[in-house]
Amino acid sequence: MIRDTLLSAIQTHASLPMPRQTRPIVIIGAGGIVRSAHLPAYERGKFSVIGLMDQSLERAESLAKSHAISRTFDNIDSVVQFAPRDVVYDIAVPASQLTRILARIPDGSAILMQKPMGETLEEARIIRDLCRAKGLTASVNFSLRYSPNNLAVSALAKAGLLGDLHDLQVQTTTYTPWDLWTFLSTAPRVEILYHSIHYFDLIRSWLGNPHSVYAKTVKNPHTANLAATKTIAILDYGDDIRVFVASNHHHNFGQKHQHSFVQWEGTRGAARIRMGLNLDYPTGVPDTAEFAERGCTEDCWQSLPIAGNNFPDGFIGTMGALQAFVEGSTSSLPSHYEDAFQTMTLVEALYRSSAQGGEVLPLGD
Ligand SMILES: NC(=O)c1ccc[n+]([C@@H]2O[C@H](COP(=O)([O-])OP(=O)(O)OC[C@H]3O[C@@H](n4cnc5c(N)ncnc54)[C@H](O)[C@@H]3O)[C@@H](O)[C@H]2O)c1
Repeated sequence: MIRDTLLSAIQTHASLPMPRQTRPIVIIGAGGIVRSAHLPAYERGKFSVIGLMDQSLERAESLAKSHAISRTFDNIDSVVQFAPRDVVYDIAVPASQLTRILARIPDGSAILMQKPMGETLEEARIIRDLCRAKGLTASVNFSLRYSPNNLAVSALAKAGLLGDLHDLQVQTTTYTPWDLWTFLSTAPRVEILYHSIHYFDLIRSWLGNPHSVYAKTVKNPHTANLAATKTIAILDYGDDIRVFVASNHHHNFGQKHQHSFVQWEGTRGAARIRMGLNLDYPTGVPDTAEFAERGCTEDCWQSLPIAGNNFPDGFIGTMGALQAFVEGSTSSLPSHYEDAFQTMTLVEALYRSSAQGGEVLPLGD
């Protein structure tokens, strides 16, 4: 009985957003994420990629060849000259490059930019103001929101199967190959800004903004060249709900005790998703989603059917949502840059909290 209810909730609410008619896409950046997620997603979602640009033409050409993309470029002005008016600019470069690229894109364009929206809140403000001034329809690629396992759990929540949420936790203990991203070696911020930002954005998508935060983000001896790569953070939503994120990317002791999950507990039920991608990045192991009814005693956790994985299906969602919004077939754009700016505000507060430190013990008294 409960199984039928779960399946019907997922069937009714858990679909990826798609436009009625797709628009052509040009991609700026031909790095790891475009290869492992953007292009596979657009192939699966039947979006057409008509051009690929990278500051390294060689990279653009080699990736374009393996995906039958006919045009490649090594500068933004040539892309703009080539692009048809209804194109979507899909920007996947390090965050430090966003402002200079956005400044050259024609006013009124549609844009999907990779997270994070700048490397600091100050940069996020410049990006937001640029988007406003240029009348861009822009969103940020917070793909975890559209990961099919998160969509399945939100479908259950919409159907009332979780009841009132009072506990939300995100835990990741894994081994992340940070050296895949050469640009991180000089980035002033790493873990919260480039990884856990997905979790903080996801939490905002469920609960809105917290009143305040407590955080500590620390370095790891094995990646002494990088800024902090391990984080523990509490988000304060009042006295009736516990929300935290704990991320450790240096568990290089085999897979046995590695994990990466989001868990929701409500007055009626609980749900947990496995973020399989983090357990063997960037290949990943399959994502999962499970549900348990409050008070059940045996075989509590039922596995839920999910229509794919964060990589690449979540990326169909971010592009689909933007294109549906641009054509007017949906009235909201959840990862709009104005909303993403608030996630950047949260990120900034977390770094500030970490730098300020906690309550000092009065040991001298
Ligand atoms: N949504 C997600 O889950 C997810 C996952 C991984 C990475 N990302 C984001 O995607 C972005 C890129 O990550 P990646 O893994 O592809 O990194 P990468 O280092 O593999 O590739 C970056 C590419 O950008 C190119 N580039 C840099 N500056 C440029 C410029 N000004 N103009 C044109 N090309 C330029 C580089 O030559 C390189 O090919 C990062 O901001 C990262 O945070 C998002």
